[in-house]
Amino acid sequence: MPTLNDIRSTFLNYFEGNDHTIVASSPLVPRNDPTLMFTAAGMVQFKNLFTGVETRDYTRATTSQKCVRAGGKHNDLDNVGYTARHHTFFEMLGNFSFGDYFKEDAIPLAWDLLTKGFGIDASKLLVTVYHTDEEAVQIWKKHAGLSDDRIIRIATDDNFWSAGPTGPCGPCTEIFYDHGDHIWGGPPGSPDEDGDRFVEIWNLVFMQYEQFEDGTRKDLKAQSIDTGMGLERVAALLQGTNDNYSTDMMRALIEASANATSSDPDGPHKTHHRVIADHLRSTSFLMADGVMPANDGRGYVLRRIMRRAMRHAHLLGVKDPLMHRLVPALVGQMGAAYPELGQAQSMIEQTLLQEETRFRQTLDRGLKLLDDELIALPDGAELPGASAFKLYDTYGFPLDLTQDALREKGRSVDTDGFDTAMAAQKAKARAAWSGSGEAATATVWFDVADKNGVTDFLGYETENAEGKIVALVQDRQAVETAATGETVQIALNQTPFYAESGGQVGDTGLIKTDTGVARVTDTRKSADVFIHIATVESGSISNAQAAVLNVDGARRTAIRANHSVTHLLHEALRNALGDHVAQRGSLNAADRLRFDFSHNQALSVQEQRNVEAEVNAYIRQNTAVETRIMTPDDARALGAQALFGEKYGDEVRVVSMGVEDGSGKGTDGNTYSLELCGGTHVRQTGDIGAFALLSDGASSSGVRRIEALTGADAIAYLRDQDQLLADAAAELKTGAADVPARVKALLDERKSLSNEVAQLRRELAMSGGAAAPAEAEDINGTKFFAQVLNGVTGKDLPALMDEHKTRLGSGAVLLIADADGKVAVAAGVTKDKTDTVSAVDLVKAAVAELGGKGGGGRPDMAQGGAKDASNSDAAIKAARAVLEG
Ligand code: ALA
Repeated sequence: MPTLNDIRSTFLNYFEGNDHTIVASSPLVPRNDPTLMFTAAGMVQFKNLFTGVETRDYTRATTSQKCVRAGGKHNDLDNVGYTARHHTFFEMLGNFSFGDYFKEDAIPLAWDLLTKGFGIDASKLLVTVYHTDEEAVQIWKKHAGLSDDRIIRIATDDNFWSAGPTGPCGPCTEIFYDHGDHIWGGPPGSPDEDGDRFVEIWNLVFMQYEQFEDGTRKDLKAQSIDTGMGLERVAALLQGTNDNYSTDMMRALIEASANATSSDPDGPHKTHHRVIADHLRSTSFLMADGVMPANDGRGYVLRRIMRRAMRHAHLLGVKDPLMHRLVPALVGQMGAAYPELGQAQSMIEQTLLQEETRFRQTLDRGLKLLDDELIALPDGAELPGASAFKLYDTYGFPLDLTQDALREKGRSVDTDGFDTAMAAQKAKARAAWSGSGEAATATVWFDVADKNGVTDFLGYETENAEGKIVALVQDRQAVETAATGETVQIALNQTPFYAESGGQVGDTGLIKTDTGVARVTDTRKSADVFIHIATVESGSISNAQAAVLNVDGARRTAIRANHSVTHLLHEALRNALGDHVAQRGSLNAADRLRFDFSHNQALSVQEQRNVEAEVNAYIRQNTAVETRIMTPDDARALGAQALFGEKYGDEVRVVSMGVEDGSGKGTDGNTYSLELCGGTHVRQTGDIGAFALLSDGASSSGVRRIEALTGADAIAYLRDQDQLLADAAAELKTGAADVPARVKALLDERKSLSNEVAQLRRELAMSGGAAAPAEAEDINGTKFFAQVLNGVTGKDLPALMDEHKTRLGSGAVLLIADADGKVAVAAGVTKDKTDTVSAVDLVKAAVAELGGKGGGGRPDMAQGGAKDASNSDAAIKAARAVLEG
């Protein structure tokens, strides 16, 4: 009996043998379709190939595509566990032609694989066609020899396929298997078609139209093929059952659940095991593709599925969290076909454990409340919406979990009442907000959030995606269109653009629609709506348009590196300086990073080098950067660094990087850096490239600021430093290694030369080299000597003054030094004369004549400064006048 893995390989190999390229499954979060919550068909990743917007180097492809049908247009969540064929996660096998072959080849390819490749009994197969598609009827007759009664014409949408309201679409033909009349059910199109007897196994879509938003439909340039076969269904058929949950893979997961809970896989707990097995697959694959549990958007759908599984685990009576214990079984079954599952295994296990631990804290109390409510209600009455809302709000019961719990009791919920209670709570939150300072600017964004929900951020996983514009805003007013040259704020249902927060700058890039292109210069956030601040560069952009969103990838890569290295730097600083180091602020831009932290003194050069070396060592370690969601308390218990004074919601992202190197420095004994952070990060620490610490300075009291670079910028910076050294060495005519010694020698030499020059100047001055009266004159019995000294600086005057006073023995001296445009004046009076004349008076008199002000000192020695020495004669005369009394 072929296993599910065998069947997948047979399918892919068959089409590869028919010149198809095997293409890997695309992620569960579609990047190229804003109308879809999750990838729900094989054709999603090829949408633009059908419309001709994109071409690749193949025109035939085959895939096994991961699909989730929970939330959004395709939602099978409620049925899972209760039917044989519904899943939240399944694999869709498909073959595709992009303008290559069409119906006449697609039908024979499918028929031959089923009847020859898989050996299915042809007499059990029948098909449906779109009622107008006579061509398909003829091909079926000719190639498969099907009689008219086994070709059923269907006039409804069941045989006209489209992935969403817009995009490629076309008529289809579906292949059914008849399990025999021992099972209840009628052929497709009959009143009993919902029975399990006739099961659809393969849908072949003849893509030939494109549907537009305004309701028009155009022919595609090239007719194409899109097919989809549910792997689990065909596996059931080939394994002789009509129950997907009896196939080898689902059975293995059900048995893992039964073993872990010591219960019977097929007894009264059958439904619980089925729900758990199915939900284990969807939740694990969603997390492997980057969706994390959250309170809105895709993350909330994930949480709903998780909690539904966890309630069923609880009903099995297990005391401890269960889901995470089943992940190894899933990886064992599917890890080879989907390597991303194994890579994310530990993150998936930890997240499931955290979520289940947390949910269990309120599950019992919530279920008790539900029971109490039910007892109080009349038989069969609906649960009031307000009660369901209380379960949601207080105990974390998603609405569909409450519905699931009631289903077993044959009851339902008043969903309108639930919606009313939810709306009332939102209005209350909004009223509280409008009291705060940011109210005026935020009002318009609250309106957007109320109407369309908050923005789903795709940017942890991708930098390119499609989104649907939900609002355009200019001057705080919603507008319908923005024309070329206009600046406009754009909100979309989802975006890969990061909105500025936590020190990380907002993304820039392009938003393109069918009618225009806008350049995004910054991205901000208000009321959890991402605001793209953009200028329309060509054409116009209108509300409700679908848009292609391209983040400037090179810039984002640089920002990622700068943000991730900040975490490594934080940890290295704590290791080097102590646990008092805490982040006080940061900037993670594309071209640099800045990190402020609490610490009282400058880092020594050695400390800086040690920190830089440690960061670089963890970059070279090149380990995966992991993200998990948990409560702030759990995160702190793990030892995560949280921002001082920051308010955290009821759950946080925890980013960990680096594996502790054995030096005992790691925060949880294993992980090097563990921080609460909503930013975007590198996938591996090696992606940072390199780290260069530029400077450490004081930012404010008790806070230091480090500036640094990463990647190519760090290397370029170090190169520039190297070049400066090389230039200096060339200038000094020596090798780089000798530059410090050479510079020191030059400085020493310069010092001794300048001492020598000063000495020579003094000697020159004393030897009368400067123009001046050679002899002292006698004024009122006091000897007075005055001299103008060219080329002598004020610094030299005290020493010269001493020499003159000694030479005179008794008397007064006035010296005017004139060098480099600066004039300095000094007056000296020998001790025996200070009673009759003060050096201060002499200096003041002289300085006044030389265009200066003031001057002062002691009676025996005073100094002053001036501007111009040309009046020296008058200055000497003024000093004389002082002596003359
Ligand atoms: N895209 C088609 C489907 O999902 C094949 O059924």
